[in-house]
Amino acid sequence: MLEITDLTHSYGDHTVLEKTSLTVPDGELVSIVGPSGCGKSTLLRCVAGLISPVGGRVVLDGTPIDGVPDGLAVVFQDYSRSLLPWLTVRDNVALPLRRRGGSKAERRAAAEEALSSVGLHGAGRRYPWQLSGGMQQRVAIARALAYRPSLLLMDEPFGSVDAQTREDLEDLVLKVHRDEGMTILLVTHDIDESVYVGDRVVVLGRDPGGIRAELEVKLPSPRDQISTRADPDFVRLRTEVSRLVRGAGALEVPSEAAAEPQKESEPREEDTEET
Ligand SMILES: Nc1ncnc2c1ncn2[C@@H]1O[C@H](COP(=O)(O)OP(=O)(O)OP(=O)(O)O)[C@@H](O)[C@H]1O
Ligand SMILES: [Mg+2]
Repeated sequence: MLEITDLTHSYGDHTVLEKTSLTVPDGELVSIVGPSGCGKSTLLRCVAGLISPVGGRVVLDGTPIDGVPDGLAVVFQDYSRSLLPWLTVRDNVALPLRRRGGSKAERRAAAEEALSSVGLHGAGRRYPWQLSGGMQQRVAIARALAYRPSLLLMDEPFGSVDAQTREDLEDLVLKVHRDEGMTILLVTHDIDESVYVGDRVVVLGRDPGGIRAELEVKLPSPRDQISTRADPDFVRLRTEVSRLVRGAGALEVPSEAAAEPQKESEPREEDTEET
């Protein structure tokens, strides 16, 4: 269980997150959306132990996080800085597995398997700089999956891939999530994606930064790119999330009031039919 309590973080005078609390049970996939600059990456960095928050705490399985916890993998927004150019693709993927022990041959086999799962079979001997941006991002995802983390943090992991690959990777994450039962926090700008992959969508807002709303996604599983996206419940949810994100930059909305989305959305129910 991941427990984020009253998390507050500032950069200088600029308070980005204010008393943000979120509890994520084991095995849940939480999508995080919100306007640019509202603190999504900051939240993930605090959970990853990469920055120390100014206030509040993050507790993973009963242990406060103060440094990168074991069993954690992160896929960053900026993939180009996360792969080591002097290592082959396969060795980039295999590198974190050293923490898990096992022979070199076993680590390489696990790396090859993860590369195949992201559609990069045969690319293991190449170097990151010989691959396109989208392929490099898939390597970063393969590295996280190969590690078989208990907590996976993904910051706009599919931002740089084409639409078809993006759908394939969404389905891959859903499959891995189902098979391995890991907890996942996934930040995305894509509202449809947040609903498609999420068990819950958390909407962050700006000024003050914090959680504006949380929506349960009770769509049937396994999800399917065609039928799930055509499901009226999917359309209703994505419309609601979209509305909440648009309102999340508003200055005067206190977070408690905004956490009751019904008042906002009920009178506009007809809007849902038009989308
Ligand atoms: N290292 C830093 N130093 C100073 N300010 C920072 C730093 N990192 C982020 N910020 C500021 O904090 C705010 C939140 O940044 P953050 O990267 O968490 O937002 P985000 O929600 O991930 O945005 P995006 O959707 O554009 O990725 C922004 O105003 C940003 O300029
Ligand atoms: Mg970000």
